[in-house]
Amino acid sequence: MASNRGVAYMGPGIVEVQSIDYPKLELGRRKCEHGVILKVVSTNICGSDQHMVRGRTTAPKGLVLGHEITGEVIEVGRDVEFIKVGDICSVPFNIACGRCRNCRERATGICLNVNPARPGAAYGYVDMGGWVGGQADYVMVPYADFNLLKFPDNAQAMEKIKDLTCLSDILPTGYHGAVTAGVGPGATVYVAGAGPVGLACAAACQLLGAAVVIVGDLIPERLAQARSFGCETVDVSRDASVGDQIAQILKVPEVDCGVDCVGFEARGHGHDAGTEAPATVLNSLMTITRAGGALGIPGLYVTDDPGGVDKHAQTGNLSIRIGLGWAKSHHFATGQCPVLKYNRQLMMAILHDRIHVAKAVNVTVVSLDQAVQGYRDFDKGAAKKYVLDPHGMIAA
Ligand SMILES: NC(=O)c1ccc[n+]([C@@H]2O[C@H](COP(=O)([O-])OP(=O)(O)OC[C@H]3O[C@@H](n4cnc5c(N)ncnc54)[C@H](O)[C@@H]3O)[C@@H](O)[C@H]2O)c1
Ligand SMILES: [Zn+2]
Ligand SMILES: [Zn+2]
Repeated sequence: MASNRGVAYMGPGIVEVQSIDYPKLELGRRKCEHGVILKVVSTNICGSDQHMVRGRTTAPKGLVLGHEITGEVIEVGRDVEFIKVGDICSVPFNIACGRCRNCRERATGICLNVNPARPGAAYGYVDMGGWVGGQADYVMVPYADFNLLKFPDNAQAMEKIKDLTCLSDILPTGYHGAVTAGVGPGATVYVAGAGPVGLACAAACQLLGAAVVIVGDLIPERLAQARSFGCETVDVSRDASVGDQIAQILKVPEVDCGVDCVGFEARGHGHDAGTEAPATVLNSLMTITRAGGALGIPGLYVTDDPGGVDKHAQTGNLSIRIGLGWAKSHHFATGQCPVLKYNRQLMMAILHDRIHVAKAVNVTVVSLDQAVQGYRDFDKGAAKKYVLDPHGMIAA
């Protein structure tokens, strides 16, 4: 039997590339006839992984990480009808049964059948059902006919793989943030966070026809990356407030649409930029989004955070000024992105050069053996989206 390696979380600050079991088409004690085994072509490190690696979740030691997976099918279960050996496919990070009420309503981020503990599942993620992650050589994908997005042509897919690898999470997630914030032609948008999700969101806003996309962060390299493809930027560590900095660009201190691509590990603004202030982004978005506007909130908020700033934050209770959002009739959209709702259209936009997401997020390909360094550099704020290439299939 073939061997397998995976990136495992071994405690706060520690990930290791380990020998792990080769995946089997099994779910507990029964055969998983609706599943496939993938040879991983590319698998990305995500800011969501970093929340776990920083010890900010209840992730168990030994968890094999990786929910952003693109792979070639090498084995199919008996009941897989439409996916074939040899197909190269994008795997949505959400695991979804395709049969429950939520899946039928395309809310695949909260499938009711794939995680006994709560709605919604993902590969290699805390609280998400215990599924083995795909930062590995090989991985098992259940409900394959429903979950997998097959690329139309393998050679074309490999040519665009640095863009297509973003379809498993950050591009649909950024796009979902933009769509739920109401971004459309002529919109003015503030995207909080210039990590990979924020930058993918900014590129999605451009695709949707936004007039001005303003990206905020406190890491200069990441802000420079946002400017490299036509975004305006706000440095939240400056003394001038986000609203004042927006007014310098738009002549008014508000935008039509606000997107939170930061989440619960947010830093404070101005003098407080050195400390964590988990409600800051949500409160500032309510301040600078127009009355009647909407907030897309793909940034992650958790129910349990052992490293939370106080005992309230440790159970996900944050000081959110909901009265302000209410007074301005804001709409809020939270939760895991339902990737299947968007990935096909976004694949077509990539294949036909309507969006250059790899360039926007600065996709940087490294081998699986370099994963540990990749995690470290990403945590230090590198303006790069690290993509692991376990089998050396991606041309330099
Ligand atoms: N909802 C989903 O389906 C989904 C999917 C993927 C990722 N996520 C979440 O999206 C978030 C972003 O992911 P990422 O990979 O880009 O992570 P990241 O950690 O690389 O990026 C977050 C960025 O926010 C910046 N930041 C911190 N405080 C800020 C503030 N007050 N204002 C503006 N910027 C601030 C940080 O400097 C950093 O650059 C994470 O919380 C991640 O878990 C959610
Ligand atoms: Zn991710
Ligand atoms: Zn379901």
